[in-house]
Amino acid sequence: MMEERFSSVLVALPPSPVLFVVEAHQQQPLLGGSVVAYLSPVISPEQPAGTDRVDRIADSRGVPPPFFHQVYADGTPPPPWEIERVQSGVREAHARGWFSSTVLDVGCGTGCNAIFLAEAGLEVLGTDLVPRAIKAARARVLEAVVAARVRFEVANACDMRSVVEDGLASSVLDCGFCHVLSDADRPTYVAELLRCTQRGASIVFLNFSEHELRGGPRRMSIADFASMLGSAFQLTDSIPSAYESTAHAGGASAWLLRFIR
Ligand SMILES: C[S@@+](CC[C@H](N)C(=O)[O-])C[C@H]1O[C@@H](n2cnc3c(N)ncnc32)[C@H](O)[C@@H]1O
Repeated sequence: MMEERFSSVLVALPPSPVLFVVEAHQQQPLLGGSVVAYLSPVISPEQPAGTDRVDRIADSRGVPPPFFHQVYADGTPPPPWEIERVQSGVREAHARGWFSSTVLDVGCGTGCNAIFLAEAGLEVLGTDLVPRAIKAARARVLEAVVAARVRFEVANACDMRSVVEDGLASSVLDCGFCHVLSDADRPTYVAELLRCTQRGASIVFLNFSEHELRGGPRRMSIADFASMLGSAFQLTDSIPSAYESTAHAGGASAWLLRFIR
C-alpha cells in the first residue's frame, strides 16, 4: 500500500515509455492526488484539436523538478530522451559551425551532447538540475583529453550563478530543455541566458515542434521561441529537424534553431 509521506510518485507503465507523475496534496491520501501526464500517451492525429490533444501539448505549467529526480533515480528505466549518443540535430548544428568555446549545455542530462562537442575540440560546461544525471555524465567521460575540455555541474537553469560566471559562454545548447519550463520561469531563464553569454553568442535550440503529433512534451513553434527570448536575441537559422527519442520512431519533429545575442 502506498504511504502518504510522498509528495509525488513516478509511475512508469512498462513496456511503454509513458510516464506519469502522481502528485499528492499534503496531508491527503496519495491516491486522492491529481494525475498529470507530463509525457503524455500517444496522441492520435485524428483526435479533435481543442480538447485533450491541445491541453497536453500546450501546457504552460512546465514540468516540476520532482519528475526529473524520479526519472533519474536508481533502478528506473532510462527516460526516452536518453538515447546514449549525440542527437543528430546537435551533430548538424556543429557541422554548420554554430558552436564555439565555451559552450554551455543547459539541461544536459547524462551528457552525450556535451561530450560530443568536447570530443570535437570545444570547451564545454554541462549543467543539469539532477545530481544523478550529472554524476552519470561525469562517469561517461573516459578519455583524459576530453575530460580536460568538459565539465558537468549541478545547477538550476534559472539560476546558474554558482557554476557559470558572467559572460562565460559564447554558445549555448538547449537540447530538449526549455520546453520543460513553465511560462512563469521563462523570463528568469532568458535573463540567465543573458547573464551567462557574451554579446554575439549563439543560442542553439533543438526542441519538439508544433508538427509532432505523437505523445511527448510541450511543443514550440518558432514564434514561441522568439516570444520567449524577446528582442535581445535574433533568429538567424531555422531548420526542420528531429529530436531522437526511444518513444518516437524516426525521431520527433523538432526545430533546430540558431539565435544570436
Ligand atoms: C528532456 S531532458 C533533455 C536532456 C538532454 N539535453 C538531452 O537532450 O539528452 C531535459 C533535462 O533538463 C533537466 N532539467 C529539468 N529542469 C531543469 C532546470 N530547472 N534546470 C536545469 N535542468 C533541468 C532534466 O533533468 C533533464 O536532464
